Amino acid sequence: MSFSSLPWLLALVPCVAQEAIKVELTEAAAKGAVCLDGSPAAYYLLKGTGDGINKWYVHHEGGGWCESLDDCLGRSKTDLGSSARYPEKIPLNGGYFSKDPQDNPLMYNWNNVFMKYCDGASFSGNNDTVTKYQNTSLFFRGKRIREAIVKDLMEQHGLNQATDLMVSGCSAGGLATYLHADQWCEALQAANPSAKCAALPDSGFFLDYQDPEVPCTPPSLLGTTINGDYHCGLKWTFHIQNATAGIDSKCVAKHTNEEWKCMFAEHAAEHIQTPVFAMQSVYDSWQVGHVEGTGGSTKTQMLGKNITERLVKNLLGKNPKSGAFLDGCYHHCGAWNLIRIDGDLVSTAIQKWYDGLSTEGNKRLWNQDRPFPCKDCCSPGAEVTEIIL
Ligand SMILES: *[C@@H]1O[C@H](CO)[C@@H](O)[C@H](O)[C@H]1NC(C)=O
Ligand SMILES: *[C@@H]1O[C@H](CO)[C@@H](O)[C@H](O)[C@H]1NC(C)=O
Ligand SMILES: *[C@@H]1O[C@H](CO)[C@@H](O)[C@H](O)[C@H]1NC(C)=O
Ligand SMILES: *[C@@H]1O[C@H](CO)[C@@H](O)[C@H](O)[C@H]1NC(C)=O
Repeated sequence: MSFSSLPWLLALVPCVAQEAIKVELTEAAAKGAVCLDGSPAAYYLLKGTGDGINKWYVHHEGGGWCESLDDCLGRSKTDLGSSARYPEKIPLNGGYFSKDPQDNPLMYNWNNVFMKYCDGASFSGNNDTVTKYQNTSLFFRGKRIREAIVKDLMEQHGLNQATDLMVSGCSAGGLATYLHADQWCEALQAANPSAKCAALPDSGFFLDYQDPEVPCTPPSLLGTTINGDYHCGLKWTFHIQNATAGIDSKCVAKHTNEEWKCMFAEHAAEHIQTPVFAMQSVYDSWQVGHVEGTGGSTKTQMLGKNITERLVKNLLGKNPKSGAFLDGCYHHCGAWNLIRIDGDLVSTAIQKWYDGLSTEGNKRLWNQDRPFPCKDCCSPGAEVTEIIL
């Protein structure tokens, strides 16, 4: 190689995709921490750098829930229910995983954990009984998977020495973030009492709502989530998975005989002690289809009003440190740094909120507050006050 080609090669290095390595939980599998099909659970790990080596971003993967036995059986043959086809390495880039300090100023050099979702119930199930369905064994063990990941990260990878932990995830992983934020932070603060621990759920504030026009369908015959059947569907998931001990114990203690309520973000939110920063579209495109069900723009407007009111009341109203970036763009997950509210992109809002957590009177709500449909809510051009380079 000629000497003059070297600078050119070095210039390429930052562009090479960062690959996270698979960690398969084979020991935990022996104790029943397994995916729907009985295969070992897994997560991906990418080490932090520089002053990020003791800071951790932990992401629960999303992908809906299994809301009937047919649904669970179907999922058990896919990556959402089996680790059989998980690759050894995956790239982790963009958004919360971005390694670009411009794009992700708070967390660009933190350790990244990507928890593979293969249990069908947002990492909450704990049913000892193996379900036999159509001659296939199905396992509901997300609680054990999450706990096995915590243990492995603590004992093998230095999470116990973390100074900072951001618990996160999108969609069903966003719900998992609401359900498990306190469990993560309690585990870390037991090891390191001075650690700063917060949660960043994206698109996970699902309402407990049943479309009055959609009957509570007997679950055994379904193949997928039925639009408008979210209340009944997720309630079924909670029961079949025996999720009571997998979700927030403070919520469960307040809802005797109605423990299932704590599986829903709007009810669980009230009890979370961890500071939470919710990223949420009030016209979330997945919720408009699957939760609202039949409707039209008037009903979507109502959905937006309900999401806003309940998130502000149940989350921000109950925890003076919690905050939110509430947008009016019709989308679900992602949209990282595409939306500007009060002059800030989401990455700036997250950093301002996180850095100001110990400051009284810190800004915590960014609310776009626009009627549906709002096309220009989706682009920073809508409210650009400065040119972004
Ligand atoms: C349900 O979960 C509870 C708490 O984790 C556990 O004690 C009980 O044995 C479980 N029941 C079944 C049937 O798995
Ligand atoms: C656990 O799974 C069995 C078998 O599918 C089911 O009958 C039971 O209702 C589930 N939940 C609990 C709490 O045991
Ligand atoms: C289950 O297995 C039995 C015995 O092998 C067989 O007779 C039956 O047809 C199978 N049922 C299904 C739904 O595959
Ligand atoms: C919004 O909340 C109101 C009041 O609780 C309720 O009657 C209505 O059905 C809700 N609509 C949606 C789409 O969430």
